[in-house]
Amino acid sequence: MSGRRRRSWTIWAPLLASLLLAGLALSAKVVDEEAEADGDDGGGASKKKKPHVNHGKFKADPWTDGHATFYGGRDGSGTTDGGACGYKGELGKDYGALTAAVGPSLYTNGAGCGACYELKGSKGTVVVTATNQAPPPVSGQKGEHFDLTMPAFLKIDEEKAGIVPITYRKVACARQGGIRYTITGNPNYNMVMVTNVGGAGDVVALSVKGNKRVKWTPMKRSWGQLWITEVNLTGESLTFRVMTGDHRKATSWHVAPRDWKYDKTYQATKNF
Ligand SMILES: *[C@@H]1O[C@H](CO)[C@@H](O)[C@H](O)[C@H]1NC(C)=O
Repeated sequence: MSGRRRRSWTIWAPLLASLLLAGLALSAKVVDEEAEADGDDGGGASKKKKPHVNHGKFKADPWTDGHATFYGGRDGSGTTDGGACGYKGELGKDYGALTAAVGPSLYTNGAGCGACYELKGSKGTVVVTATNQAPPPVSGQKGEHFDLTMPAFLKIDEEKAGIVPITYRKVACARQGGIRYTITGNPNYNMVMVTNVGGAGDVVALSVKGNKRVKWTPMKRSWGQLWITEVNLTGESLTFRVMTGDHRKATSWHVAPRDWKYDKTYQATKNF
């Protein structure tokens, strides 16, 4: 009897498991909204393209050895204003006091700006956003260098420690509200700063589209998270498409209205 039952399970268990997996895979699929809303594109080739599908969510990387130092004061003074990522003024404040300058292999010429890292020290852990570039690794120390604000450093170790070994991993960024686009410059030289990106947090590609004249146009990274295009964007509602370091994409449809203005920030309804 029990032998028989066991035999029937050996037949059904793999089948059930594969059905379960198929179900999970389906529910984890998040279709980028470009599939439905890309009606005003007009581009013949792009119409035939399959809609982009983001599978699941960004998952944390494995833990890696590194080391941390700090800068600025206990009150968070010296916290990012500007810096190599370009998060100036209000944009810098949005990331709060728990930020880090990250070493060259993580900063990667600005592509690493906005990523989130969980750091573990002898006292505890902290999640920080990469908002600046740190000097290269300190000699004699393991792995990559994180130069933390004092409030961030105090969560993982004592102030007197100065320079400490840590382990770290890239984690998903938890953000409130949608992706933000700050437009500066002029009609011959449009600059867009992308902030408040969830998921992987780091933007590796940005494209813009208008509602009439301007077709999908890849923007170029100027530095940090500042992107530029010389295409005249004036008078059109603007749609931006962001790709993060994990190759997931999000499209912020008509995030800036036709009468958008320079030096203003437009927030999408969605995020990763
Ligand atoms: C940009 O486009 C707007 C709207 O079509 C136009 O009024 C303006 O003259 C253009 N500016 C430049 C610099 O081409």
